[in-house]
Amino acid sequence: MSISSAPSSSRGSSSAKPGVEPCWACGTKVRVSGMNPLDFAVCPNCGERVLVPTDLDQFRLTRFLGQGAMGRVYLAVDQTLNREVAVKVLRRAYFSSPKMWGQLEKEAKAAGRVMHPRVVQVYRLGKSDNRPYIVMELVNHPTLETLMKAGPISLDAIRRIAVDCMEGLRAAEATGLVHGDVKPANILVDERNHAKIADFGLARFIHREQSVERWGTPYYMAPEKAKQEQEDFRSDLYSLGATIFHVMAGRAPFEGKTGDEVIELALRDPTPYLSDFRKDLPKVFCKIVYKMMEKNPDDRFASYDEAIEALRGGRPIPETRRGVRSPFWARVRSFLVESPAESGKNPRRAAR
Ligand SMILES: Nc1ncnc2c1ncn2[C@@H]1O[C@H](COP(=O)(O)OP(=O)(O)O)[C@@H](O)[C@H]1O
Ligand SMILES: [Mg+2]
Repeated sequence: MSISSAPSSSRGSSSAKPGVEPCWACGTKVRVSGMNPLDFAVCPNCGERVLVPTDLDQFRLTRFLGQGAMGRVYLAVDQTLNREVAVKVLRRAYFSSPKMWGQLEKEAKAAGRVMHPRVVQVYRLGKSDNRPYIVMELVNHPTLETLMKAGPISLDAIRRIAVDCMEGLRAAEATGLVHGDVKPANILVDERNHAKIADFGLARFIHREQSVERWGTPYYMAPEKAKQEQEDFRSDLYSLGATIFHVMAGRAPFEGKTGDEVIELALRDPTPYLSDFRKDLPKVFCKIVYKMMEKNPDDRFASYDEAIEALRGGRPIPETRRGVRSPFWARVRSFLVESPAESGKNPRRAAR
């Protein structure tokens, strides 16, 4: 199978000059002649990246969509079916050994079996000139990470996003799949705040091949995973809880200068209360987030159904040892912790 530059222009305009590509954002003609497949030029007019149109087997890659820990994601057209897809071109280094490739095939097969509206569908795993790639459903929506950087997210919005993620994760769990890397960058959110979760199973490759320092801050990592103990769906539940905490508090549950420091704090310190950072949120919501992030998986929700029902307000949250907060410690904490909500610094209060 091969990888090659596709003829300009990829949009099929008969008047396009060879080696010149229209910028996808502003239409300015940008010179790409002499460049290699997957290279890009910067548009002199708007500064967007203009990709050298590249064919990976039947997929014509036309636009750079984003950079991740494992490779780059591109908008592409499946020329056999004539439909748009997203193609993640993975770093060769991860999958150079037959063992790693075999493992990736296994993971991709498992992920491909999950078909659910709340899960980004995996269509295919391929290899072109020894470069592995994953073809998936194109989701033209920003990630939760982008949204949380752009501005505050309302309680209703995060509740809907959380329920959608849980529904997607529940569908995966039904096939025996744990996500392993639930985080804002893996949640794609549409304009009505419906979410889809991406990248099932892929996280384990990064974790295996890179040190914690290199793959990013492990803000969302469940303690049992940090200790390299057995993971199950409750580890994903923790990561989703930490994600919600970050979105609503404007800071991660544990923050440190390095990934190692974050992990150390997450293992050592008690789980923080969202209500200490957001006095305006309903107590019951903060309690749900806390329960998702309990240190001991046995103290978290026993199923996605239970967590979804609690989020929808249908059932009281089951109490656990650590979930119950004594009034004395509540008073001590509110004395010690300066609440950004109280001091008027909280950036996430307005509704989205
Ligand atoms: N299925 C998809 N459809 C459209 N864009 C996507 C898709 N998957 C990922 N992206 C975009 O590509 C970026 C990088 O994705 P990814 O490689 O998965 O990053 P990460 O390692 O942070 O999860 C994302 O932030 C998102 O903007
Ligand atoms: Mg991702």
